[in-house]
Amino acid sequence: APALAEDGYDLWLRFRPLTGTALAGAEARLSAIATTAPEGLAAAELSRGLSGLLGRAVPIGTEGPLLVGTGDDPAIRALRLDLSDLGPDGYVIRTIGPRTVLAAQGGTGLLYGAYHLLRLAQTGARLDTLNIREVPRIERRILNHWDNLDRYVERGYAGQSIWDWHRLPDWHDPRYEDYARANASIGINGTVLNNVNANATILTAPYLDKVAALADIFRPYGIRVYLTARFSAPKEIGGLPHADPLDPAVAAWWGAKVAEIYARIPDFGGFLVKANSEGQPGPQDYGRTHADGANMLADALAPHGGIVMWRAFVYSDEVPDDRAKQAYAEFVPLDGSFRDNVLVQVKNGPIDFQPREPFHPLFGAMPKTKLMMEFQITKEYLGFATHLAYLAPMYKEALDADTFRPARGSTVARVADGSLDGHGLSAMAGVANIGSDRNWSGSTFDQANWYAYGRLAWNHGLSSEAIAREWIAASFSPDPAVLEPVLAMMLPSHQAVVDYMTPLGLHHLMGRGHHYGPGPWVDGGPRADWTSVYFHRATKDGIGFDRTRRGSDAVSQYAGPVADRFDKVETTPPDLLLWFHHLRWDRKLSTGRTVWAELLHRYGRGIAAVDDMITRWQGLEGRIDAARFKEVSTFLAIQRQEAQWWRDASVAYWQSINGLPLPPGEAPPP
Ligand code: GCU
Repeated sequence: APALAEDGYDLWLRFRPLTGTALAGAEARLSAIATTAPEGLAAAELSRGLSGLLGRAVPIGTEGPLLVGTGDDPAIRALRLDLSDLGPDGYVIRTIGPRTVLAAQGGTGLLYGAYHLLRLAQTGARLDTLNIREVPRIERRILNHWDNLDRYVERGYAGQSIWDWHRLPDWHDPRYEDYARANASIGINGTVLNNVNANATILTAPYLDKVAALADIFRPYGIRVYLTARFSAPKEIGGLPHADPLDPAVAAWWGAKVAEIYARIPDFGGFLVKANSEGQPGPQDYGRTHADGANMLADALAPHGGIVMWRAFVYSDEVPDDRAKQAYAEFVPLDGSFRDNVLVQVKNGPIDFQPREPFHPLFGAMPKTKLMMEFQITKEYLGFATHLAYLAPMYKEALDADTFRPARGSTVARVADGSLDGHGLSAMAGVANIGSDRNWSGSTFDQANWYAYGRLAWNHGLSSEAIAREWIAASFSPDPAVLEPVLAMMLPSHQAVVDYMTPLGLHHLMGRGHHYGPGPWVDGGPRADWTSVYFHRATKDGIGFDRTRRGSDAVSQYAGPVADRFDKVETTPPDLLLWFHHLRWDRKLSTGRTVWAELLHRYGRGIAAVDDMITRWQGLEGRIDAARFKEVSTFLAIQRQEAQWWRDASVAYWQSINGLPLPPGEAPPP
């Protein structure tokens, strides 16, 4: 057979032929599909994937060991499976005698189950004792595209936007369906098509026709379309003099606009809104609150079943004493005043997707409000698409954090999935890393972050390692000789980037504007909180932002036990030390090193981790296809060079401030 091109386009849906026991198991259990819904996507996807894995066509018919169907299917009904609590997305997969049974309430659940079964086959799992019941923990699992209508992707490092607005609604790029399929395969069921820094143009009739064309393509895959709504749209495209949310004329305009959308897209998901943040318009322009603005839009959407995702990433032009405190200060007083179909969308940390942040203090602090998590998949502050950083450990760190509100065990995940406070509707957002690059994400390893986001939105209880194993098996090979070294590269990679960029809780030290490369010296300009010196506060004597009760008191935005822990140097995790404390350079830490020596140690440790990734990857030559092997090798070399750049530039800058010598063994910056 001719060699298949490995250009990354197939993502984790490669389905290359299995070998050995994995092949034998799949042959025995999944060799033909029996269904009464042969036209359904689930059967088609199973046949497509299994044909690849078995190396021959896997038929769809009425006979076969793999039985696929809903409760309406007589063959499924005869099995008396309990499908009642599955909801539209859940499914069961069971071994019953010689048969493998996949059952769900409807087509979407079957489709998710099909991908689960393919994942099992692909990873070489045993297929003869299956007893799986899956229901997603989060209802709306959404991508946020920061895509502009001119196809420029804000913070996108994978080419242009894949939305070809110019040729829509007529031309349907086949890629749209591939996109839907990739997302459905990891459980993503919603997509916000346009940037949070939105232009109102997308809400005009010609663009709504284009949006409707995409929605039609995504619908069979269970994916709904959402749009960012620019708050001032009534002024810009509606001819109204203002956009005051309490003016009935403004509300009426939105009501009509929403009806216009639903006439084209009956399952439209709703609006995402960035208001009164970074210069965007919002209700505060009229002396109104975030709740006034969100509720006005929510009322327009409610009759159609739509939702509002109102972002809590707010900070204003006047520099507060500590930018980390602003979202909490603005939103907590509004707890309980949002409509039922409003979710407040909160970034994982209180500043802005830094390589490492503590969890956002809003989680747990607004029990009467539905809060949703916003993660960034695109690596704005983590080396764009060249540096290898597997982000599941970063997502997990936020999700697993204990808010202690109201008591121990109240994790961020339980706030975000609605279970803690009994909220029915839950959602999660991930800022997409998808673009027109052939490999979608700008690099092979960045595909893993898209994958991990989807898997965690479905089930935040999965471990980073389990997700990485699935992804590696699907994307490269289930062979342990490949899987284990790649896993050993991925798991420590996020910590490595933190170590060489912003060790010990430092943050916001990158180049101004583009956010690439070191810039701890960044100072001046229009806003203090867009500088680095605002955040590191380094002087001859010490370094770090004092957010303790003696400083900005940001710690008091957390529940008592958490605040107490962050308030003391001894109990603050070393990874967050300089986030919460301003410490003398010569202060001795629990590690036995001074602050200065610990910083240097961590820069070096980060670089060493990149060296380690390079060694492991080189050991895989010949086991990975040449194209991807070369791409990863080249990107790792870039990462190695830039890790050194971060370390050298940072060390030289800190020395210019503290005047301290380097400990023996530390190489001086060039
Ligand atoms: C960051 C990012 C911006 C983005 C903003 C947001 O500040 O640099 O490009 O618009 O986050 O999340 O709204």
